Amino acid sequence: MSDIKPVEDWTTDFDVLDERYVQQPFEIWNELRTACPVAVTDRRGRTWLPTTYADITAIAHDTSTFSSVDVSVIAAVPEEGDEDKLPYGMPPISADPPLHSWTRRLLLPWFSHNKVDSYEEMTRALCRALIDAVIDGGRADAACDYAQQIPVRVIATILGVPEEMSDTFTGWVRDSLEFADDPERRKRGNYGIGYYLWDQMQVRRDKPGDDLLSCLLHTEVDGAPIEPTIVLGMAMLTLIAGIDTTWSAIGSALWHLATHDDDRKRLVAEPELMSTAVEELLRAYAPVTMARVVTEDVTFQGCPMREGDKVLLNFPAANRDPKAFDYADEVVLDRAANRHVAFGLGIHRCAGSNLARMELRVAIEEWLARIPSFHLEEGRPVLWAGGQVRGPRQLPVVLR
Ligand code: HEM
Repeated sequence: MSDIKPVEDWTTDFDVLDERYVQQPFEIWNELRTACPVAVTDRRGRTWLPTTYADITAIAHDTSTFSSVDVSVIAAVPEEGDEDKLPYGMPPISADPPLHSWTRRLLLPWFSHNKVDSYEEMTRALCRALIDAVIDGGRADAACDYAQQIPVRVIATILGVPEEMSDTFTGWVRDSLEFADDPERRKRGNYGIGYYLWDQMQVRRDKPGDDLLSCLLHTEVDGAPIEPTIVLGMAMLTLIAGIDTTWSAIGSALWHLATHDDDRKRLVAEPELMSTAVEELLRAYAPVTMARVVTEDVTFQGCPMREGDKVLLNFPAANRDPKAFDYADEVVLDRAANRHVAFGLGIHRCAGSNLARMELRVAIEEWLARIPSFHLEEGRPVLWAGGQVRGPRQLPVVLR
């Protein structure tokens, strides 16, 4: 990231990959909320960055002016050899209605409360095994040894792909999202996931199992099977959407508890606060920013947005807007009213939020049950990733 030109004026030349933004975006959003209606940049194409709850929710609801045809925060550089690009992207996230509506409807049952309950015991056992592996050593990287390991294994089970592929999937998903400004890595990630799942589709076409991939392959919509590139896009989305995101949320929650003794002790002493605490940690450390493409020239909050510009749906900043939340920059574990938008809102609201919430709750519960006291390890840095998904990628802690 060292080759990124430092930002001097955040209102007219912001960069979400700037080190300050990745480390501590909160102050920048507070400055921007008073300095300008919507920040803008020409780095990687013209892009707008709203920071208020009201603006972000208004843009998310206006799906005709702000399209989901390209939701990547870091625009991909068009390249030769991109002819393998999926014609419909990864629906439903990259689709507007009507494609959005029926693809979303097919995914939702896989993440219903009942289904998610059925994954809880396995998630708990997984968390316990991960803790067993580090607890005697007295220290751990809570990001790599723990947070990162959980969502990928749960998703692999849902998709019906072998758990042994977990590390490979994690690498691909990071290449695709976290290193999106490196065209080589982004391509390696997307192609890795795409070709792997394509091969799995061929296997399941003749020998279906009871997994999501098999089900999509054998479902008919309007009397015809779903086009294979759409099945592939949906499966890729399921893999990509649930891994970096949830892992980042678990990692940020553990970072908070490692650095805020009072909150950690309170949550250990009052486990009944867990549900409001999970929502509050999601609000304060919302990991996901999405993008929209402007479909026609429009003036928004006095800003001249042109067709083709990008607008970032800055859900994390909306969650820290003092006009929407009292003490917005503080974590209040028993916050009662909490209409946060960490999972987005409107037609694209996260389809996997039940699963994400369960994984986050179980990961914190199991950790605190065995490791009620822990803190950052002195002399070893915490490394954060940012851009589309923000969270700690190295989180060295001492377990005391
Ligand atoms: C803490 C973890 C997670 C966060 C913060 C999160 C956040 C989000 C957000 C903000 C959106 C809205 C996208 C937009 O408006 O363009 C979204 C969509 C989506 N998420 Fe999640 N997500 C998480 C975990 C998951 C998991 C575990 C899954 C399961 C595979 C998942 C599947 C999806 C899908 C399929 C969509 C697309 C929905 C649509 O376009 O209709 N997410 N997520």
